[in-house]
Order: sequence, then structure tokens, then C-alpha cells
Amino acid sequence: MSQPMKATETPLFTAAKDRISCYQLSDTSPVRDSRIHEIVGFAVKHTPSSFNVQSARAVILLKDEHKALWDLADDVAKATVPEAHEKMLAKMIQGFRAAYGTILLLEDQDSLESLRAKYALFGHLVPEWSEASSGMHQYLIWTALQLEGLGCNLQHFNFMPEFTDAVRERWDLPKTWELKSQLVFGAPSDGRMVRKRERTYLPLEGRSLAPYLRPDSVNLNSDADDPSDAGRTAYQLSPGQGVG
Ligand SMILES: Cc1cc2nc3c(=O)[nH]c(=O)nc-3n(C[C@H](O)[C@H](O)[C@H](O)COP(=O)(O)O)c2cc1C
Repeated sequence: MSQPMKATETPLFTAAKDRISCYQLSDTSPVRDSRIHEIVGFAVKHTPSSFNVQSARAVILLKDEHKALWDLADDVAKATVPEAHEKMLAKMIQGFRAAYGTILLLEDQDSLESLRAKYALFGHLVPEWSEASSGMHQYLIWTALQLEGLGCNLQHFNFMPEFTDAVRERWDLPKTWELKSQLVFGAPSDGRMVRKRERTYLPLEGRSLAPYLRPDSVNLNSDADDPSDAGRTAYQLSPGQGVG
């Protein structure tokens, strides 16, 4: 094990803070395709899942395969939600199509069903755990790809069940793999990793509680270069005070 360190001063926290949704993406990549595969494999191997069920699945689509995915999304949206397609989806889809690749994140329902059957007491929580673990996978891959110079944004075109079916059929995926999200990525088109609009932050008071800590013992300004942190002070809670 490595020596304990100040976590907020490590590259891990810097990467967490710097991660953004980047939408202006080109169809190029600053890293090799095999490297993208390595990163995804690492995340699939090392990200936790409930009872170590390892139900996460990932499918990496690059270049023409990536374009085929978004053509499929366009066809399905046009056929199933024509008004929304005309109003906004067609333009959004064109933007995603212009990128380099998409990683599909899925969850294997067979593995989850075995888990549910094994632990009768907790079984009803398995779907929530599946979502939580999938989110962790998505977050790690997103943050890692950005560290390597790839802009990313996270999509959920599985809001259309027909899209999920079409994707499964097109790439011959097992019926038990349920599509959760699509992580779109590529080199930022103007070379700069920028947010479309500035992210705002709600005050931490009432969102992260430590009721039995002395307020003046907590430094919530540990990432003080963020101007929205300027007015943050230590928690003003007294023991027993709740949220909201
Ligand atoms: C669970 C989850 C679902 C999201 N779904 C979408 C989505 O469907 N489309 C999209 O463009 N962004 C999506 N996002 C991105 C968020 O809108 C974005 O992370 C948030 O506004 C903060 O901006 P940032 O990513 O630049 O920090 C999602 C993020 C999370 C965590």
C-alpha cells in the first residue's frame, strides 16, 4: 500500500475537479485505439460492484461504427419521436456523430438476477446497485479519457427502447445486456477542453453534513481557486439539526 497522503491534493481530485462535459468534438483522437480499449478494460476490471457481481459490460465503437450508432439513433428518433427529432434531436445527434467514438455502458441482467436470487434479504436493491455501479464505471472512464486528452459527454438515447433493441441487433449483443448510457468522445474540436456553459455550484452547507464536528475545524475552501467557493464557510450545524 502507498503512504497516506492529502487526497484533495492528489491527481485523483484534480482530475475529478477538471472533468467536464465537452460537446464540441472532432473525429480524431490524440491516443491510439488500443489505449482507449486498455482504459475501458481497466475500469471494467477495477470499478466496484455489489457483492463483486461484475455485471458491467462495455462496447467501444470507433470511427464508422460510431457513426453507424448515431445514424441508428437518428433513424429511431425520426420514426418514434418525430416532433422531438425535428425540434432538437436531429441537431444533437449530428453533433455526437461528428465525434470519434462512443462507449456503450451496459449491465448484464443475468448476473444481476443470480445476485438477486442469492440474497433474498437485499434482492430488491439489486437494480439500484446496478445503476450505482454502472455510474461509477461511466465516471471513471469519462475522467480517464479526459486525462488523456479526449473530450467526453454522456448521453442516454436508451430513453427510446427501440434504440436499445436496434443497438443490440446491430452489434449482436446478448439479450441480457441492458444499455445504460453512451459516452461520446473525441479530440476537442478547437483544441480546448471547455464547458459549453459555466458550471455553477450550490453551497455545500446542508449538502454534506458532519453535525458532530466543530464548525471551525473544517476547511471547505480546500479548492479555493474556484471563485464560487469564496463565500463558503464551515458547516453551521449544531448536533441534532437535520437537513432541510
Ligand atoms: C447521471 C447523469 C446523467 C447525465 N445525462 C446526460 C445526458 O443525457 N445528456 C447530456 O448531455 N449530459 C448528461 N449528463 C451530464 C450533466 O448534465 C453534466 O455532468 C452536469 O451538467 C455538470 O456539468 P459538467 O459535466 O461539465 O461538470 C449527465 C450526467 C450524469 C451524472
